Amino acid sequence: MSPESPALPFEPFKTKVVERLPNPTLADRQAALERAGYNLFNLHSDEVRIDLLTDSGTGAMSDRQWGGMMMGDESYAGSRNFAHFESKVREITGFPYVIPAHQGRAAEHLLFTTLVRPGQIVPNNMHFDTTQAHVVHAGGTPINLAGAEAYDAVSDYPFKGNMDTAALERLLVVEGKERVPLVMVTITNNTGGGQPVSLANLTEVSRVAHAHGIPLYLDMCRWAENAYFVREREPGMGTRTIKEIGRAFFDLADGATMSAKKDGLVNIGGFVAVRQAALADRLKEAVILFEGFPTYGGLARRDLEAVSIGLEEATDLEYLEHRIGQVRYLGALLDARGVPFLHPPGGHAIYLDVDRFLPHLGDLDLPGQALAVELYREGGIRTVEVGSIMFPTRSKDQRPLELVRLAIPRRVYSASHLAYVAEVVARVYDRRASIRGLTMTYRPERLPHFTARYAPKTG
Ligand code: F0G
Repeated sequence: MSPESPALPFEPFKTKVVERLPNPTLADRQAALERAGYNLFNLHSDEVRIDLLTDSGTGAMSDRQWGGMMMGDESYAGSRNFAHFESKVREITGFPYVIPAHQGRAAEHLLFTTLVRPGQIVPNNMHFDTTQAHVVHAGGTPINLAGAEAYDAVSDYPFKGNMDTAALERLLVVEGKERVPLVMVTITNNTGGGQPVSLANLTEVSRVAHAHGIPLYLDMCRWAENAYFVREREPGMGTRTIKEIGRAFFDLADGATMSAKKDGLVNIGGFVAVRQAALADRLKEAVILFEGFPTYGGLARRDLEAVSIGLEEATDLEYLEHRIGQVRYLGALLDARGVPFLHPPGGHAIYLDVDRFLPHLGDLDLPGQALAVELYREGGIRTVEVGSIMFPTRSKDQRPLELVRLAIPRRVYSASHLAYVAEVVARVYDRRASIRGLTMTYRPERLPHFTARYAPKTG
């Protein structure tokens, strides 16, 4: 792929329904920023031209999924949609017990309140914000153990999601299974740039955790994207199917949480899946308390049908080639304009490298948020800061990367939309020296990035 003419990602679908894109003027956008307290979560969607806030629950469902939605069997208990859902999750993961939940964080809530006691520690390659918050909510301490490559925005290391297994071993020797109720690995590593974990690394994580008698769980939101990278990059994997690679991952683990809003290709849904019957019984008690009966888990049964079809569609190689191809296409256009971002491009997003984008701003200027605000002001593009605001306590010994994520919704935007995005980002990059910082005028206690408010720095 040459930077001048990057390969256009071929869409393996055609359009059946369209939605008009809003086209706010610069004056509209300025007013919207002021009203929103410079927090892009407070924007109305009709103030946004291209919405790259998240790839979660924002994808386009297929005609088959919509067809499935019309076949909802809305029985409180024992719905046939649950049976389809359960058998698809079992087929993909091999985990016999499947507990539905309304989305990923609900699955995290069920798993962590069941397994984690106050004072315990949960290691992960890198916790996502809600995962971290749910460990804390259960009284635990989240620890990130991604390898050093994860903190290097420039290197093209192929598996930047990998866990540092020597660090894991050291932790488990000191703390033991009394203090560490589970080890979790997030595939792909969203907080660290949508980067994959290799099968070799997970094999070693599994060996270390199990040698200490500690179960291993996967945060499998983007497991199919992870499997695509493994197929492409890991020796000996090139002829295996996405499902086979996924199964090799799941076989190493004791269970998983899933936000089906990502690689389930739906707008709402999730689950916990586990190997152990006794744990499944406890999770079912929890799901009844917090979500709903174990055959619907807080969802309409028609939603479960859409998940079961979406999980299958996400394993289609042509779909994944387009999906990952879109991220790479945007990356190639930005490379051609010299815009610094975390390399290599991730599975679901490009992450702008704020330290190199705005070197004249310091941490107290909230540079990631300041950049996200400028991308919106320039072209109506909504992104999200993944840095010192989203993860105020993330930095243990390593300073977190300061990133702005451009997450690409699945099957939604075209290559020309991505070209527009690249143009807007490049225009902001060209005028970067004039960008000023922000101050936080309201700081909520938990998950601050969702509801904080800011003001431009004046002096
Ligand atoms: N785990 C990971 C790795 C995630 O990326 C997310 C959500 C969750 C868990 C929670 O799932 O939203 O269904 O409750 N990530 C979204 C994002 C919100 O924008 O990256 P959820």
